[in-house]
Amino acid sequence: MAKTADYALGEYTYPRGWFMIGTSADATTTPAAVRYFGEDMVMYRGESGKVFLIEAYCPHMGTHLAKNTSSYVVVDKKHVEGDGIRCPYHAWRFGPDGQCDDIPYSPVKPPKAACVKSWKVVERAGCLWTWYDPENGLPDYELPAFEQWDKPSWVNWNVECLGELACHPQEVVDNMADKGHLEPVHGSIDMIQFENEFDGILVRQILTAGHKTLAGSGAEPMTNDTWYTGPGILQSTMIGEYPSHMLIAHTPVDDGVIKVWYGLFVKVKNDQPTDADRELARGYEQAGVAAFAQDFEIWANKRPCINPLMVRGDGPFDKVRIWYKQFYNPRARAGEFQNRVNGRYVTRGTQQAPWDTAA
Ligand code: FES
Ligand SMILES: [Fe+2]
Repeated sequence: MAKTADYALGEYTYPRGWFMIGTSADATTTPAAVRYFGEDMVMYRGESGKVFLIEAYCPHMGTHLAKNTSSYVVVDKKHVEGDGIRCPYHAWRFGPDGQCDDIPYSPVKPPKAACVKSWKVVERAGCLWTWYDPENGLPDYELPAFEQWDKPSWVNWNVECLGELACHPQEVVDNMADKGHLEPVHGSIDMIQFENEFDGILVRQILTAGHKTLAGSGAEPMTNDTWYTGPGILQSTMIGEYPSHMLIAHTPVDDGVIKVWYGLFVKVKNDQPTDADRELARGYEQAGVAAFAQDFEIWANKRPCINPLMVRGDGPFDKVRIWYKQFYNPRARAGEFQNRVNGRYVTRGTQQAPWDTAA
């Protein structure tokens, strides 16, 4: 398993950006142990309904704040109290900002040092997101709106966690430039168009081709417009009889290990989707998972690719890798990497078609 340093990505082990940390269903008033960015964390839903993400270990004596079933703090349902969480060991309570605000047996006010780190959580489109920044800065770009979530004629996605993958996210992001795998892996026959555009924190791919997994052989070519907003959130729209909007999210768990999710919105013909519409949408989503599983199987079993051996007809992998470095370096240097790649590139062997869909 290769690490960030092996790819010479930059100063930081984990990239700056918006990342998925679970689906809405994953956060309840029973605190859950999670791990992201090389840290053990606890995620829970407070009594207000808000979701919180904090460091896992209590500063008093190092107890894991979630991993307990037998303490009376847990048994008597005092584990989550308001929007705070009580440690199962000596029942110190931490507020949503991570500061200890109650030590039941001590006459003194909790000291300032009695606090755990906390990360802000945004709940949107049935998923939980957090902003991660090794420099601890505020977000420098917006979390995508996922506006289909509230549109009645779109059947909502049912985001599925595909588990952990012991593969550096660089290799997943490489996919944006990977024209050559599309026909062998996904059956993207008769490719008409393959283009990339780099624009700041966005990288985009336009593909027009057949797709054996999604459409069967002999079907009309489809156009996919696919883009990353930052290092961990990929969306893709597909125009067809039933337009769809896909999400692939991946978040570092440890250096060289990611957790991956997949979801698909499908636009149906009725303003209020019927049961049949929902069934059709679920079928599309499952076909999408199958197509993504074709990539997943390759990534799960390959050795790391530190220096790709490129030939003519491969897409602009070098540019994708430069683009990706902006997230592993101080934000003051992001423009440097963006300026080196911003622009549009057509990969040899395809023609440039009109640029008519907007990301
Ligand atoms: S270890 Fe958490 S309250 Fe003592
Ligand atoms: Fe792929």
